[in-house]
Amino acid sequence: MIHTVSHGDILEIQIANPPVNALAAGVRQGLTEAIAQGQSDPAITAIIIRGNGKLFSGGADIAEFDKPIEDPLPPVIFDAIEASAKPVIAAIHGMALGGGLELALACHYRVATKGAKLGLPEVKLGLLPGAGGTQRLPRLIGISAALDMIVSGSTMSATRAKELGLVDALADDAELLRDAIAFAQNVSEPRRSSALIVATEPEALEQFVSANARRLKGQDAPQACIEAVKASAELPFEEGMLKERALFARLMNGDQSKSLRHIFFAERTAAKIDDMPKDVQPRAVGRVGVIGAGTMGGGIAMNFLSAGIPVTIVEMTQEALERGVGIIRKNYETSAARGRITSDQVGQAMGLLKPTLDFGSLAECDLIIEAVYESMGVKKEIFSKLDRIAKPGALLASNTSYLDIDEIASVTGRPQDVVGMHFFSPANVMKLVEVVRGASTAPDVLATAMELSRRIGKVPVVSGVCHGFIGNRMLLPQLTNAIELVLDGATPAQVDKVHADFGMPMGPFLMTDLAGVDIGWHRDPARIESLRDAMCAEGRLGQKVNAGFYDYDDKRRPSPSPVAAKIIAGFAHKQGRGARQISDEEIIVRTLYTMVNEGAKILDEGIAQRASDIDVVWVFGYGWPAVKGGPMHWANTVGLTDIVNSLDAYKDRLGTDFTLSPLLSACAAQGRALDR
Ligand code: 3HC
Repeated sequence: MIHTVSHGDILEIQIANPPVNALAAGVRQGLTEAIAQGQSDPAITAIIIRGNGKLFSGGADIAEFDKPIEDPLPPVIFDAIEASAKPVIAAIHGMALGGGLELALACHYRVATKGAKLGLPEVKLGLLPGAGGTQRLPRLIGISAALDMIVSGSTMSATRAKELGLVDALADDAELLRDAIAFAQNVSEPRRSSALIVATEPEALEQFVSANARRLKGQDAPQACIEAVKASAELPFEEGMLKERALFARLMNGDQSKSLRHIFFAERTAAKIDDMPKDVQPRAVGRVGVIGAGTMGGGIAMNFLSAGIPVTIVEMTQEALERGVGIIRKNYETSAARGRITSDQVGQAMGLLKPTLDFGSLAECDLIIEAVYESMGVKKEIFSKLDRIAKPGALLASNTSYLDIDEIASVTGRPQDVVGMHFFSPANVMKLVEVVRGASTAPDVLATAMELSRRIGKVPVVSGVCHGFIGNRMLLPQLTNAIELVLDGATPAQVDKVHADFGMPMGPFLMTDLAGVDIGWHRDPARIESLRDAMCAEGRLGQKVNAGFYDYDDKRRPSPSPVAAKIIAGFAHKQGRGARQISDEEIIVRTLYTMVNEGAKILDEGIAQRASDIDVVWVFGYGWPAVKGGPMHWANTVGLTDIVNSLDAYKDRLGTDFTLSPLLSACAAQGRALDR
């Protein structure tokens, strides 16, 4: 895992632990020995540490975190590196992340290729940099910049790092070793970051805390990061290190970090398709077609355009086409105005877009995604047309969020090429894509949809065919129970508050108002069979008309609605239901435990390949708080027996359709986790 090469009087230590040069026990052991070798060999005057392969190092080995960690510990080796009497230079290419960057910080100098990226992403795993990062970084770049980097977990370009003093010299991307050797030949003395003084900047800390308080609420790791960085200014280095260590240990054993680590691996595991033959190659996709330039179609198109893939977008009328293209352009221009992309990039993306009214233009596309409204009739018509015009081997995808992919595929003569690609709204922002595998979907079609989704920066998860697939099928019991809860006496605001306190971006009623209370409405005000019908009949269609379960002001801010309350009370009265006090616990059981129950059924039926895929769907598609690890991981944390007992206790209120998942009840009875 560690190789050493001498270049005259310079010793090069290479870290070779593919795929990301994680600092596993073997690497740490090898590094310790190599550093000692550099110290004891009188012919060596300086040491270079470098990563083999595509990057310097991705940091500590996260897979080791759930086991007792073996000696030597990273901070111990890093202290030994810093103590070296001979200058040690980190030669960075690709990425230096987490413990990888902390290793570089312990070196006396850092040379990085111009394209390299540096970062301390531990906070995204619910941790803080635990091998000196919180103490050495502020000494090198100051409190403000260090706080930004550590608390955001974002990466920084080598050029920016050079401006800040984190990197001492930039190297040619193709000549890192040459440039690092030249650098090493020009330094004679070690320069230890631990010996530098941190400028206190007390106002920077206060400003940072007040500016970020809301965003960081309820998250343990960012608070601990701030505390540790504060210690770098207030305590001597050694004491700061002890403080960092103690905070690190506390976070490591906490539920939040366990959940975030679970999501880290779950995201990567979701890319794997269990029964995919090894020799399957994805099909080449050079141009994508999108049918429908509405909110969904436009958002989907943007993903490909931003990734440099040309898109043909088709609409029925010139007006709809122009409106759709106008929104895409406006979205890009807003991103440019916020400094997220350059105006050149806006031009490049728009230059790849071919808007047309000619359906026949889709013949040039390798993947065609239909994104029109949810109607089986309309979708079938589109797919039979596509069957006639699409080139042989083109993937025919539907963005349907509920409908049966197999039925859609049945109208084509090529069901093997049909697949679901369910994007989540707003499609240019939300990371999830449910890749729906029909009964006939060919393995290479599935592989293409997965690979392409990753290429455009999405997190794809395979789902089997069922009504609503993984995500929306689980949402259904939540929404149904939320409605029943208000008919029993809860208020929409009470239900939503329980969800907000849980960490959801919005509760079921705010979500319904945003999506439109009238989704799926039959449009007959005289026919009132559900509370939603009653709301729609009174024109309370949601946020778009400033009136739904809440009232909205002209800035779209919600407030409890007396009108909605009256409609709810009237409908409940008609059903002969009396209002009672509803506890927050009942809301959790009826809206969240029922989702867990549905998730267990989805798992049992093989709709999801594994429990962690369900977690990925909810974290990346619906904003389930990552610190709670997704519904299945959360259920394991709460305890499956508790969940089963609570569902049983409330079973009379869960509706006649409710049945307990046999898998959930078996796991609870056997003390097993929902984790296969
Ligand atoms: N430890 C263990 N395994 C890791 C790892 C790590 N730090 N980083 C990546 N891996 C594994 C992944 O699980 C994946 O395994 P798989 O192939 O079996 O699924 C494989 O390496 C490749 O990873 P990616 O698919 O993510 O590869 P990419 O090329 O897309 O991305 C990367 C590479 C940018 C390095 C990305 O993997 C990444 O962000 N890794 C995590 C970095 C990180 O969070 N580092 C901090 C670790 S905590 C720490 O250092 C504590 C310290 O302060 C003491």
